[in-house]
Amino acid sequence: MNIHSYEKIWLMAALLLIVGFISTVTYGATAVGIDMVSDEGGTVNASALDEDPRFSEPRVEQVGDNEYEAYVIAQQFIFRPDPITVPANSTVTFFVTSPDVIHGFEIVGTNANVMVVPGQVTELTVDFNEPGEYGLLCHEYCGAGHHTMEGSVVVQP
Ligand code: CUA
Repeated sequence: MNIHSYEKIWLMAALLLIVGFISTVTYGATAVGIDMVSDEGGTVNASALDEDPRFSEPRVEQVGDNEYEAYVIAQQFIFRPDPITVPANSTVTFFVTSPDVIHGFEIVGTNANVMVVPGQVTELTVDFNEPGEYGLLCHEYCGAGHHTMEGSVVVQP
């Protein structure tokens, strides 16, 4: 290895450190209007989601005054439903699963950020306090179309 390669390695290391520092500072910051409350799980038959009462029709369901449940499928390379539409001032429990490979479910700019595993149901509860539109992103590499896998969460006034 010559001097030039070492220099490259150190340059890269310095860059990584800077990116690391910045992400440490920004990661904890939650976007205005959203709080992630909890995340836990359950299981499901990944190869028969179309027969599952919760996932045969991905949807948002009202279950209380300001309470909703969202049944979401993350699959190569889309989210269903898309957009996920919920009202402002609501508490939404998301149940997210995958029929194929591991995906990510991240509401961009918030700390609602979970992994979606085939056969498992990822549960997370989020309070939507203010209207707005949020990007939805897959942050786990899931195949050739990974970089195109995105959706949106629309919080209606
Ligand atoms: Cu789904 Cu990356």
